[in-house]
Amino acid sequence: MISDKIRDILNGQINKEFYSAYLYLSMSAYFSEIGLYGFAHWAKVQSKEEIDHGLILYNYILGRKSQIHLTQISAPVFELNSPVEVFEQIYNHERSITSAIDSVANQSEGECDLATRNFIDWYLKEQVEEETEVSRIISKLKAFGSEKSALYLIDRELGKREYSAAVY
Ligand code: FEO
Repeated sequence: MISDKIRDILNGQINKEFYSAYLYLSMSAYFSEIGLYGFAHWAKVQSKEEIDHGLILYNYILGRKSQIHLTQISAPVFELNSPVEVFEQIYNHERSITSAIDSVANQSEGECDLATRNFIDWYLKEQVEEETEVSRIISKLKAFGSEKSALYLIDRELGKREYSAAVY
């Protein structure tokens, strides 16, 4: 059984993951509107992964015989600027999610809930991968993105991203 405190933190993290899914879906629409269909595809795949992240938490909470408390998801907020600026906002968003996951890890340790502490390691690894991927895309956009032909190639590359359901 997990404590009420950890239950609430994990439920809060479900909300953050679903908010992330909303954010990426909204960004996907924006990229489609400006003709960057590869970027749009990349963001839509990320949106699906965020839903998976939320569902893994959901299944964990139920598996520990605790309660699901779903709360309102805020409307996504981001500035509709250039692709590189959108990706910088993605990077900042993912860093804030990493901080939230760090907090889950610290608090589960504080509660001596080692099962949750172990469970959340998967998310810590996932965050490192996401931050690395996004920072690489930002570097490419900064290096080449001002040229339309290069932006086209980056768009094609991002359009090849494959979705595979995140499995814990
Ligand atoms: Fe669920 Fe973008 O991490």
